[in-house]
Amino acid sequence: METPIRKAEPCVMVIFGAGGDLTKRKLIPALCNLITSKLLPEQFAVIGVGNNDLNTETFRAQLSDDIKKFASCPVTPELWDWFRKRLYFIRGDFDNPATYQLLKDQTAAVQKELNVPANHLYYLAVAPRFFGKVVQQLGAAGLAQEENGHWRRVVIEKPFGRDLESAKALNAEIKKVLAENQIYRIDHYLGKETVQNIMIFRFGNGIFEPIWNRRYIDHVQITAAETVGVELRGGYYDTAGALRDMVPNHLFQLVSLTAMEPPISFQADAVRDEQAKALHAIQVPTPEEVLTIAVRGQYGEGIVDGARVAAYRAEPNVTPDSSTETFAGLKLKIDNWRWADVPFYLRTGKSLAARATEIAIQFKRAPFQLFRDTPVEALETNRLVLHIQPEEGLSLRFGAKVPGPIMHMGPVEMKFNYVDYFGRTPSTGYERLIYDGMIGDATLFQRADMVEAGWSVINPILDVWKALPPRAFPNYAAGSWGPKEADDLLARDGRHWRVIT
Ligand SMILES: NC(=O)c1ccc[n+]([C@@H]2O[C@H](COP(=O)([O-])OP(=O)(O)OC[C@H]3O[C@@H](n4cnc5c(N)ncnc54)[C@H](OP(=O)(O)O)[C@@H]3O)[C@@H](O)[C@H]2O)c1
Repeated sequence: METPIRKAEPCVMVIFGAGGDLTKRKLIPALCNLITSKLLPEQFAVIGVGNNDLNTETFRAQLSDDIKKFASCPVTPELWDWFRKRLYFIRGDFDNPATYQLLKDQTAAVQKELNVPANHLYYLAVAPRFFGKVVQQLGAAGLAQEENGHWRRVVIEKPFGRDLESAKALNAEIKKVLAENQIYRIDHYLGKETVQNIMIFRFGNGIFEPIWNRRYIDHVQITAAETVGVELRGGYYDTAGALRDMVPNHLFQLVSLTAMEPPISFQADAVRDEQAKALHAIQVPTPEEVLTIAVRGQYGEGIVDGARVAAYRAEPNVTPDSSTETFAGLKLKIDNWRWADVPFYLRTGKSLAARATEIAIQFKRAPFQLFRDTPVEALETNRLVLHIQPEEGLSLRFGAKVPGPIMHMGPVEMKFNYVDYFGRTPSTGYERLIYDGMIGDATLFQRADMVEAGWSVINPILDVWKALPPRAFPNYAAGSWGPKEADDLLARDGRHWRVIT
């Protein structure tokens, strides 16, 4: 029997920064996909807020053009007609209290016109410097308070802080206005099907959990590799770097989902309690340890996908002598019973040889080398790879006898691909997150303690790297797998990175 569709709760979604890039490229297409899936209720409207030269009519007209370019699924004229008349825009500066008075009037008017209850989902599609300010102004205008059974929730874009101190300060600032259960800190990785599948895979199957520990697993490798350089994001990226941009948020989500204990339920806080515990168990490196467990790199010119590409320092809006890293590699230790002595190696970078995000679980060797005196003495070990992007699925490597009269063993792979089983469901990656915001399910959003636990691990690395500027940047060619130091990090432990093709 099919599960009945639970529609999102009737609400007004207010998008701050609605004249910007994220809104047209992701949020509006994601809302269209939710309408197609019949997950949005009749009583729904979007109010855009921004300082752009727009009003409701021109906002509707602009999005009518944009959706043709950015829709990830076909948008029928009926669908767009339904949605278009639910789009509103108010022009105003985020710093100006008058903007919030206008918003108050507009939400009241829309609620009345479309018979929408006073549930508000505020989506902060704005630069991080506005996160605290907008929340504070919402509070001052009385727009954040939940009353008469109506909810007020705030979705906060990334990045959440740029180090431990700023993340704590931002948490403190928004918590003056909002309770934790009103705050939805987004991490786009959690919008990906395969990331959500990690929990199902681990806890919905009986066969994996018994071997998911130090007894059977040798180490874990997590890779988030991009072939693109910084493209047009040089201005932001040059002040952030690979470590800040990717590790405390995206990669730590993957670490926590891989390392966490089974939650007592799939309720948001039950899951996030276990994720937080796993993050707290990551050993915070001392400054001396940083020198041996963290490596950084920056790409020089090279060849990616057959085309010559410029060095990072020659990219637009990047300082010509920049010491910002475009590659970061880490070895983490998780101090608990499950993971003692099982290193988690992480690497992420730009202008690398392949685009791939994956978690590779490397199992220990079979305990007895039965084939010692045969041509198969170098047996491959078992490896399970959770492929997150661009391929979505998983693969398991194991040894099999190569047909023939000689006892010869070779590695074979068993593969599960999402598309083969479920077909392709084009999505923006935001549908589930927006929908969850509307039904009040915060499982896939970061809680304050998770954000701070992540930054606690990263902070000493940021400090040491700042104190000791890199001497040999650029240290890897665009199109390679990163600096030699990344290989050395594993080689010192007698290991090597999985070859991704
Ligand atoms: N774009 C993406 O695909 C993407 C992906 C992941 C995360 N994000 C995150 O999403 C957030 C928004 O990104 P975005 O790319 O959409 O940024 P954006 O294109 O700069 O959009 C922000 C909008 O806010 C407006 N604005 C700026 N200052 C304002 C002020 N004081 N008062 C009122 N409006 C103001 C901007 O207007 P002007 O154009 O006039 O400045 C712009 O329309 C950021 O936190 C970003 O890190 C974006």
